[in-house]
Amino acid sequence: MRTTDLPDGQPVPVLGLGTWRMGEDPRREAQELRALRSALEIGYRLVDTAEMYGEGGAERMVGQAVAAAVLAGTVRREDLFIVSKVYPHNASERGVQAACARSLKRLGLDYLDLYLLHWPGNHPLAATVAGFESLRAQGLIRHWGVSNFDVDDMERLWALPTPRHRTVGCSVNQVYYSPSQRGIEFALAPLLAAHRVPVMAYSPTDQGKLALDPVLSTIGARHEASAVQVALAWILTQPHVIAIPKAVEERHLRENFAALTLRLDAADRRAIDAHFPPPEGPQPLAML
Ligand SMILES: NC(=O)c1ccc[n+]([C@@H]2O[C@H](COP(=O)([O-])OP(=O)(O)OC[C@H]3O[C@@H](n4cnc5c(N)ncnc54)[C@H](OP(=O)(O)O)[C@@H]3O)[C@@H](O)[C@H]2O)c1
Repeated sequence: MRTTDLPDGQPVPVLGLGTWRMGEDPRREAQELRALRSALEIGYRLVDTAEMYGEGGAERMVGQAVAAAVLAGTVRREDLFIVSKVYPHNASERGVQAACARSLKRLGLDYLDLYLLHWPGNHPLAATVAGFESLRAQGLIRHWGVSNFDVDDMERLWALPTPRHRTVGCSVNQVYYSPSQRGIEFALAPLLAAHRVPVMAYSPTDQGKLALDPVLSTIGARHEASAVQVALAWILTQPHVIAIPKAVEERHLRENFAALTLRLDAADRRAIDAHFPPPEGPQPLAML
């Protein structure tokens, strides 16, 4: 699996599996559990979840899948990179720690590889960061980061008084990024790159809608690839970007994983730029 580096030099897979909408409906659980097991067999090593997803249901399912895969010898815990997120309303210094304990229990894990603030909220950022740092000191999380943070939010975070927050503090910003949602390229992505903080691209296929995009389909046809594979390959070949497409259908899991080996050429990139032009000025952060 190709990797990029977190600011402290830790390698992280560039492709992961999203889990939003999993664990919400008992009638879909068997299929979702099979998908999670299958993903680990296919080679996915990063899984993105959140306390919000199915109000803990997704974390429970990820936990079951990981436990079964470790037991079966498919993976070792240390080879996985498990991401979860705290609700903003839980993100006080003590609230973060309590929420993390609940997430770890549902996941059946001793530690998270990355713990994110799901979006900016009302608790002072300094308190949230203090909670994250305390979790890190206890070995309950390896890294922390943020999600849905725009330029001004990152500036507020980096302006916090403790110098270590600037250096090994925030490890990732998870934001909406896809070929059709390129607003971050104007200011946020360059700013994050300057701090060596990777972008974790959520909804990289526009929740499956890019599968029907005619231009991406035409480009894909030249490579015997699908439109979604083109979208993912376009994201995955950018430095410091991690993509976390969600898929339950086995066919989607395999197709998305295979996008790792798709190479787009300059003509493909020009066609994508013509269809989805890069931003020419600041744009508010897109969110789902
Ligand atoms: N931090 C945040 O605020 C935030 C917000 C949104 C998402 N996220 C994270 O990012 C992950 C991904 O985002 P997302 O779930 O919103 O959207 P997404 O990954 O862009 O799209 C998921 C949808 O696309 C379908 N799909 C997957 N692969 C496909 C393929 N090869 N061809 C056609 N359709 C395909 C899936 O269908 P099947 O499931 O039926 O296979 C599912 O309906 C989430 O699951 C979550 O972990 C975070």
